[in-house]
Amino acid sequence: MNILLTGGTGYIASHTAVVLIKEGHKVVLFDNLANSDISVLDRLEKILNKKISFIEGDVLDSELLSKTLKEHKIDAVIHFAGLKAVGESVENPLHYYENNVGGSISLIKAMQKNGIKKIVFSSSCTVYGEPQYLPLDESHPTNPINPYGFTKLFAENILHDLSISDPTWSIAVLRYFNPVGAHESGLIGESPKGIPNNLMPFIAKVATGELKSLKVFGNDYKTRDGTCERDYIHVMDLAEGHLAGLNFLEDHKGWYAINLGTGQSTTVLELLQAFEKINHVKIPYEIVGRRKGDAPACYAKPSYANKILDWKTKRSIELMCESSWKWESSHSI
Ligand code: WQD
Repeated sequence: MNILLTGGTGYIASHTAVVLIKEGHKVVLFDNLANSDISVLDRLEKILNKKISFIEGDVLDSELLSKTLKEHKIDAVIHFAGLKAVGESVENPLHYYENNVGGSISLIKAMQKNGIKKIVFSSSCTVYGEPQYLPLDESHPTNPINPYGFTKLFAENILHDLSISDPTWSIAVLRYFNPVGAHESGLIGESPKGIPNNLMPFIAKVATGELKSLKVFGNDYKTRDGTCERDYIHVMDLAEGHLAGLNFLEDHKGWYAINLGTGQSTTVLELLQAFEKINHVKIPYEIVGRRKGDAPACYAKPSYANKILDWKTKRSIELMCESSWKWESSHSI
């Protein structure tokens, strides 16, 4: 199939591109480079030993999207493009609604114009808000607690209503838990601009010495060691989940929300200790106050994905830490 990846030079999209191209699909990357670097293209071409089609553009530019869909004879779209910093979404909600919701509407309209009705949407466990029970399955109520989470839920709902108005659409909404790690080559990985908000890239930057020490946000939660539990999923497992989602849409119409997680929980200190052990590094840290909005524990029930996508995670926490370190230590300036 010919597949358009919006946000194509981003962290998860670039890893998904590797999986799709290795599977024989033709991939077109579409990105405005607001939160990623064009150098990803060269590194992808090194991994794959083939040229990659790239279009620089903004998902709000529906005309350009339509032209791209037409010219590249696109059969399906994976919609990754979107802003994803929770804290930033609280400070600047309009920017998030315009980009994440407006961008999704712009893309869907361009797809409609070209008769393309197969889409995988990059959503997030943040649509669930504070877990009312664990592990989280897809029937858990959706009550986001920040604008970022609401933008993901609104886009999910737009796609759901579209599917009701036109049942010939095939829509997979993939709700990610905590993506971490990097491709085994160490050539692509997570490269947040500035100081990372997320735990794994922060730990990796402490390991390289770029950052002095890790602040652990609270150790007084009712968890195994007092620090928050999360469902960390290797980005390559996540990428394979997108291929499985596309394959599923080949012969399924309708709207499907699917959790992509391991079903395992890891605390902050457990992740830090695993990182130190597998990489033979020391990560200095200090316990500080809780971060606003953090849930004590959040992890997936992946049985629905296992069943309908015939997909399950294969990579360990150790491999997540090892690949993060290989990426960070090989690319950091
Ligand atoms: C994990 C744990 C922190 C940094 C994020 C996004 C969410 C989704 C998943 C996209 C928490 C602790 C962190 C630090 C710390 N992504 N921590 N010190 O908050 O679970 O969710 O990724 O959809 O949208 O918000 O991930 O990596 O920020 O935090 O102690 O310097 O690590 O308190 O308990 P989170 P995270």
